[in-house]
Amino acid sequence: MADLVVALDYKDAESAFAMARSLKGAAPWMKVGLELFVAEGPKVVSGLKEMGFKVFLDLKFFDIPNTVQGAVRSAVRSGADMVNIHALGGERMAKAAMDGCAEGVDPGQKPPMVLAVTMLTSMGAGDLPLDIAPDPSEMALDLAVKAEQYGLNGVVCSGLEAERIKVACGNDFICLTPGIRPASADAGDQRRVVTPAQAVQNGSDYLVVGRPITQATDPREAALAIVEEMEQVK
Ligand code: C5P
Repeated sequence: MADLVVALDYKDAESAFAMARSLKGAAPWMKVGLELFVAEGPKVVSGLKEMGFKVFLDLKFFDIPNTVQGAVRSAVRSGADMVNIHALGGERMAKAAMDGCAEGVDPGQKPPMVLAVTMLTSMGAGDLPLDIAPDPSEMALDLAVKAEQYGLNGVVCSGLEAERIKVACGNDFICLTPGIRPASADAGDQRRVVTPAQAVQNGSDYLVVGRPITQATDPREAALAIVEEMEQVK
Protein backbone atom coordinates (compact mmCIF):
# COMPACT_ATOMS: atom_id res chain seq x y z
CA MET A 1 0.00 0.00 0.00
CA ALA A 2 1.29 3.46 -0.92
CA ASP A 3 1.87 6.15 1.73
CA LEU A 4 0.71 9.76 1.67
CA VAL A 5 3.39 12.45 2.07
CA VAL A 6 2.14 15.98 2.74
CA ALA A 7 4.25 18.83 1.32
CA LEU A 8 4.65 21.49 4.02
CA ASP A 9 5.48 24.39 1.72
CA TYR A 10 5.36 27.13 4.37
CA LYS A 11 7.47 30.16 5.13
CA ASP A 12 7.94 29.35 8.83
CA ALA A 13 8.08 26.44 11.24
CA GLU A 14 5.08 27.63 13.24
CA SER A 15 2.70 27.36 10.24
CA ALA A 16 4.24 24.03 9.18
CA PHE A 17 3.94 22.53 12.67
CA ALA A 18 0.33 23.73 12.99
CA MET A 19 -0.58 21.98 9.72
CA ALA A 20 1.35 18.83 10.70
CA ARG A 21 -0.41 18.72 14.07
CA SER A 22 -3.80 18.90 12.37
CA LEU A 23 -2.84 15.95 10.13
CA LYS A 24 -1.65 13.61 12.89
CA GLY A 25 -3.07 10.14 12.19
CA ALA A 26 -4.23 11.14 8.68
CA ALA A 27 -0.81 11.08 6.96
CA PRO A 28 2.35 9.26 8.12
CA TRP A 29 4.89 11.40 6.21
CA MET A 30 5.64 15.13 5.99
CA LYS A 31 7.81 16.72 3.32
CA VAL A 32 10.11 19.63 4.11
CA GLY A 33 11.10 21.53 0.98
CA LEU A 34 13.29 24.44 0.06
CA GLU A 35 11.09 27.32 1.30
CA LEU A 36 10.72 25.92 4.82
CA PHE A 37 14.23 24.49 5.19
CA VAL A 38 15.97 27.64 3.94
CA ALA A 39 13.94 29.70 6.43
CA GLU A 40 14.18 27.43 9.47
CA GLY A 41 16.88 24.77 9.01
CA PRO A 42 17.19 21.29 10.54
CA LYS A 43 15.02 22.07 13.59
CA VAL A 44 11.95 21.60 11.36
CA VAL A 45 13.01 18.02 10.65
CA SER A 46 13.65 17.23 14.31
CA GLY A 47 10.38 18.92 15.34
CA LEU A 48 8.35 16.80 12.91
CA LYS A 49 10.20 13.65 14.01
CA GLU A 50 9.34 14.44 17.64
CA MET A 51 5.69 14.69 16.57
CA GLY A 52 5.98 11.12 15.25
CA PHE A 53 6.14 11.79 11.51
CA LYS A 54 8.51 10.33 8.97
CA VAL A 55 10.25 13.14 7.12
CA PHE A 56 11.20 13.51 3.48
CA LEU A 57 13.78 16.29 3.17
CA ASP A 58 13.20 17.46 -0.40
CA LEU A 59 16.19 19.68 -1.19
CA LYS A 60 16.98 18.21 -4.64
CA PHE A 61 20.75 18.51 -4.46
CA PHE A 62 22.54 19.17 -7.76
CA ASP A 63 26.19 20.24 -7.49
CA ILE A 64 29.71 18.86 -7.84
CA PRO A 65 30.13 15.39 -6.26
CA ASN A 66 32.11 16.61 -3.23
CA THR A 67 29.50 19.25 -2.37
CA VAL A 68 26.60 16.83 -2.79
CA GLN A 69 28.38 14.26 -0.61
CA GLY A 70 28.64 16.80 2.22
CA ALA A 71 25.08 18.06 1.72
CA VAL A 72 23.64 14.53 1.90
CA ARG A 73 25.80 13.77 4.96
CA SER A 74 24.33 16.83 6.71
CA ALA A 75 20.80 16.02 5.53
CA VAL A 76 21.11 12.53 6.99
CA ARG A 77 22.36 13.95 10.30
CA SER A 78 19.20 16.10 10.49
CA GLY A 79 17.30 12.83 11.04
CA ALA A 80 15.45 12.78 7.69
CA ASP A 81 14.07 9.41 6.57
CA MET A 82 14.32 10.25 2.88
CA VAL A 83 16.50 12.72 0.95
CA ASN A 84 16.95 13.46 -2.75
CA ILE A 85 19.30 14.61 -5.49
CA HIS A 86 18.86 15.28 -9.20
CA ALA A 87 19.42 12.27 -11.47
CA LEU A 88 20.81 14.66 -14.08
CA GLY A 89 23.90 15.08 -11.88
CA GLY A 90 25.16 11.75 -13.25
CA GLU A 91 26.99 8.77 -11.86
CA ARG A 92 29.79 10.40 -9.88
CA MET A 93 27.36 12.76 -8.15
CA ALA A 94 24.94 9.92 -7.37
CA LYS A 95 27.69 7.72 -5.92
CA ALA A 96 29.00 10.65 -3.86
CA ALA A 97 25.46 11.10 -2.50
CA MET A 98 25.36 7.45 -1.40
CA ASP A 99 28.80 7.87 0.26
CA GLY A 100 27.53 10.98 2.07
CA CYS A 101 24.50 9.02 3.22
CA ALA A 102 26.67 6.22 4.65
CA GLU A 103 28.89 8.78 6.43
CA GLY A 104 25.91 10.60 7.95
CA VAL A 105 24.20 7.63 9.61
CA ASP A 106 24.82 6.94 13.27
CA PRO A 107 25.66 3.34 14.25
CA GLY A 108 22.34 1.52 14.51
CA GLN A 109 20.42 4.21 12.58
CA LYS A 110 18.46 2.98 9.57
CA PRO A 111 19.93 4.72 6.50
CA PRO A 112 17.45 7.07 4.86
CA MET A 113 16.26 6.41 1.32
CA VAL A 114 18.12 8.41 -1.30
CA LEU A 115 15.96 9.19 -4.33
CA ALA A 116 16.74 10.89 -7.62
CA VAL A 117 14.50 13.49 -9.23
CA THR A 118 13.96 12.49 -12.85
CA MET A 119 11.89 15.21 -14.56
CA LEU A 120 10.05 17.77 -12.45
CA THR A 121 6.32 17.16 -12.65
CA SER A 122 5.90 20.88 -13.39
CA MET A 123 7.78 20.40 -16.69
CA GLY A 124 5.91 19.26 -19.75
CA ALA A 125 7.14 18.76 -23.31
CA GLY A 126 8.68 22.04 -24.45
CA ASP A 127 9.55 23.29 -20.94
CA LEU A 128 13.14 22.00 -21.11
CA PRO A 129 15.24 24.99 -22.18
CA LEU A 130 16.95 22.95 -24.92
CA ASP A 131 16.60 22.97 -28.70
CA ILE A 132 16.42 19.20 -28.68
CA ALA A 133 13.10 18.47 -26.98
CA PRO A 134 13.05 14.94 -25.53
CA ASP A 135 9.73 13.49 -24.44
CA PRO A 136 9.54 14.07 -20.65
CA SER A 137 8.33 10.53 -19.90
CA GLU A 138 11.10 8.94 -22.00
CA MET A 139 13.65 11.13 -20.29
CA ALA A 140 12.28 10.25 -16.85
CA LEU A 141 12.47 6.54 -17.69
CA ASP A 142 16.07 6.81 -18.94
CA LEU A 143 17.12 8.73 -15.83
CA ALA A 144 15.39 6.20 -13.57
CA VAL A 145 17.23 3.29 -15.18
CA LYS A 146 20.52 5.14 -14.65
CA ALA A 147 19.64 6.00 -11.04
CA GLU A 148 18.99 2.32 -10.35
CA GLN A 149 22.35 1.38 -11.90
CA TYR A 150 24.10 3.99 -9.72
CA GLY A 151 22.72 2.33 -6.59
CA LEU A 152 20.07 4.88 -5.58
CA ASN A 153 16.96 3.62 -3.77
CA GLY A 154 14.39 5.08 -6.13
CA VAL A 155 13.17 8.10 -8.02
CA VAL A 156 10.84 11.07 -7.86
CA CYS A 157 8.70 10.72 -10.96
CA SER A 158 5.27 11.58 -12.30
CA GLY A 159 2.52 8.98 -11.95
CA LEU A 160 2.52 8.85 -15.73
CA GLU A 161 5.80 6.95 -15.86
CA ALA A 162 5.79 5.01 -12.57
CA GLU A 163 4.47 1.84 -14.19
CA ARG A 164 7.20 1.71 -16.85
CA ILE A 165 9.87 2.52 -14.25
CA LYS A 166 8.75 -0.38 -12.07
CA VAL A 167 8.93 -2.74 -15.06
CA ALA A 168 12.40 -1.50 -16.02
CA CYS A 169 13.94 -1.16 -12.54
CA GLY A 170 12.09 -3.75 -10.45
CA ASN A 171 9.32 -3.50 -7.92
CA ASP A 172 11.63 -2.70 -5.00
CA PHE A 173 12.88 0.45 -6.73
CA ILE A 174 10.87 3.24 -5.09
CA CYS A 175 8.65 5.57 -7.11
CA LEU A 176 7.63 8.71 -5.23
CA THR A 177 5.10 10.80 -7.10
CA PRO A 178 4.30 14.49 -6.75
CA GLY A 179 1.92 16.26 -9.12
CA ILE A 180 -1.06 14.49 -7.54
CA ARG A 181 -4.39 16.14 -8.16
CA PRO A 182 -7.76 14.75 -7.07
CA ALA A 183 -10.17 14.98 -10.03
CA SER A 184 -11.75 18.19 -8.68
CA ALA A 185 -8.48 20.03 -7.85
CA ASP A 186 -6.70 22.82 -9.72
CA ALA A 187 -3.40 21.73 -11.35
CA GLY A 188 -1.73 25.10 -10.57
CA ASP A 189 1.87 25.13 -11.87
CA GLN A 190 1.98 21.33 -12.19
CA ARG A 191 1.80 19.84 -15.70
CA ARG A 192 2.13 16.04 -15.63
CA VAL A 193 -0.55 15.32 -13.04
CA VAL A 194 -2.47 12.17 -12.08
CA THR A 195 -5.20 11.47 -9.53
CA PRO A 196 -4.35 9.62 -6.29
CA ALA A 197 -6.04 6.46 -7.64
CA GLN A 198 -4.12 6.60 -10.94
CA ALA A 199 -0.80 7.02 -9.11
CA VAL A 200 -1.43 3.98 -6.89
CA GLN A 201 -2.70 1.97 -9.86
CA ASN A 202 0.49 2.80 -11.75
CA GLY A 203 2.64 1.53 -8.88
CA SER A 204 3.75 4.70 -7.06
CA ASP A 205 4.90 3.89 -3.51
CA TYR A 206 4.61 7.40 -2.06
CA LEU A 207 2.20 10.14 -3.15
CA VAL A 208 3.30 13.72 -2.41
CA VAL A 209 0.40 16.13 -2.05
CA GLY A 210 0.72 19.79 -1.12
CA ARG A 211 -1.84 22.44 -2.01
CA PRO A 212 -4.84 20.12 -2.52
CA ILE A 213 -4.48 19.40 1.22
CA THR A 214 -2.80 22.47 2.75
CA GLN A 215 -5.07 24.95 0.97
CA ALA A 216 -8.27 22.97 1.46
CA THR A 217 -10.97 24.43 3.72
CA ASP A 218 -10.55 21.33 5.89
CA PRO A 219 -7.02 19.90 5.31
CA ARG A 220 -7.58 16.85 7.50
CA GLU A 221 -10.75 15.92 5.63
CA ALA A 222 -8.93 16.45 2.29
CA ALA A 223 -6.07 14.18 3.41
CA LEU A 224 -8.44 11.47 4.63
CA ALA A 225 -10.37 11.59 1.32
CA ILE A 226 -7.11 11.10 -0.60
CA VAL A 227 -6.11 8.15 1.61
CA GLU A 228 -9.56 6.63 1.08
CA GLU A 229 -9.17 7.00 -2.70
CA MET A 230 -5.72 5.37 -2.45
CA GLU A 231 -7.08 2.47 -0.41
CA GLN A 232 -9.84 1.75 -2.91
CA VAL A 233 -7.29 0.68 -5.53
CA LYS A 234 -6.75 -3.02 -5.39
O1 C5P B 1 1.24 21.71 -3.97
P1 C5P B 1 1.71 20.51 -4.78
O2 C5P B 1 0.88 19.26 -4.53
O3 C5P B 1 1.88 20.82 -6.25
O4 C5P B 1 3.15 20.20 -4.17
C1 C5P B 1 4.03 19.28 -4.75
C2 C5P B 1 5.32 19.27 -3.92
O5 C5P B 1 6.19 18.31 -4.49
C3 C5P B 1 6.06 20.61 -3.91
O6 C5P B 1 6.61 20.74 -2.62
C4 C5P B 1 7.18 20.43 -4.93
O7 C5P B 1 8.34 21.14 -4.58
C5 C5P B 1 7.43 18.92 -4.85
N1 C5P B 1 7.97 18.29 -6.06
C6 C5P B 1 7.35 18.33 -7.28
N2 C5P B 1 7.92 17.72 -8.38
C7 C5P B 1 9.06 17.05 -8.26
C8 C5P B 1 9.70 16.99 -7.00
C9 C5P B 1 9.11 17.61 -5.92
O8 C5P B 1 6.27 18.90 -7.40
N3 C5P B 1 9.58 16.42 -9.28
